[in-house]
Amino acid sequence: MKKIFKMLTLMLAAIMLFASCGKKEEGATKGEEKVVIKLSTKFVEDEQTAKSLKRVAEKILERSNGNIEIQVYPGGQLPIGKDSMEQVVSGANWISVDGLNFIGDYVPDFNAINGPMLYKNFDEYLAMTQSDLVKKLKAEAEKKQIKVLSLDYLFGFRSMLTDKEVKVPEDLNGVKVRVPTSQLYMYTLEAMGANPTPLPFTEVYSGIQQGVVDGLEGSLMTIYGTKIYEVRKQVSLTNHLLGVSAVSISKQVWEGLTEEQRTIIQEEFDAGAKYNNDVTVELEKEYKVKLEELGVKFNEVDLAAFNKETSKVFSKFPKWTPGIYDEIMSELEVIRSK
Ligand code: G3P
Repeated sequence: MKKIFKMLTLMLAAIMLFASCGKKEEGATKGEEKVVIKLSTKFVEDEQTAKSLKRVAEKILERSNGNIEIQVYPGGQLPIGKDSMEQVVSGANWISVDGLNFIGDYVPDFNAINGPMLYKNFDEYLAMTQSDLVKKLKAEAEKKQIKVLSLDYLFGFRSMLTDKEVKVPEDLNGVKVRVPTSQLYMYTLEAMGANPTPLPFTEVYSGIQQGVVDGLEGSLMTIYGTKIYEVRKQVSLTNHLLGVSAVSISKQVWEGLTEEQRTIIQEEFDAGAKYNNDVTVELEKEYKVKLEELGVKFNEVDLAAFNKETSKVFSKFPKWTPGIYDEIMSELEVIRSK
């Protein structure tokens, strides 16, 4: 009896597997093999970037008649950061959405274009990503097997979130501030006077509760979207770095797609970035009000003092191309003169 039951269970499992394979093929256009790509990101479900990426995946599925399925895994359910980029480089069916610094591990100058206190607004940065300088960097990334689909998913300027008001760099002396695992962030926060502590974002909430760190730095989108305001209430508006996400896919996977598939994916990620940034600009205003209602205080800082300190960061990276800072500044001059 037991044997018969086991056989029946196995047969049922086989039928279900067969049925599900059939269903997958049904969804795809005849004659074309369905493409399934996993997308991994640190952003949690409630954050706009995660929502925008899901929207992009839906549009791609719809426009490709079910032939291209981008499976979005938010909140670090799959490897993120360095590990996610390794998947890309090794040629997995994988899209990584994470900080520019993780491409910077392969092409160091990517860190330079996201250096501290470079941009006054989103548009300046978005114009920079269209510059010849950045086109050159993207070509360099391709030599390392990274096809950069977008550098334009913004989640706001990052400020300090601590339990005390910060006005000048000296106020950060001895303050343990969580930063992403990135040399650029380490040097920037060090220059700003803090004791930077690298931690994955998933460990920040408990890290604050347990005293591993005193606070963090992040954008309003992060502070509201991850509910980290529950444990810290003082935002000091340093706006020291722009929260930027890069979308990367393996060059090998990219080249294995048809031209039509590549067009659909590229166009939808471009449109998705624009949508994401427009919504982000609006949400930032809304979140500021909501955060104030939740007891968060916003403080202005001595920006000139922080600017003076962070400018030293640009000379700290031996792997950056000599003169990259001047190149960035002359691009910015052109952008600002338009
Ligand atoms: O969900 C976390 C995200 O909003 C910010 O992550 O590592 O750039 O601070 P991170």
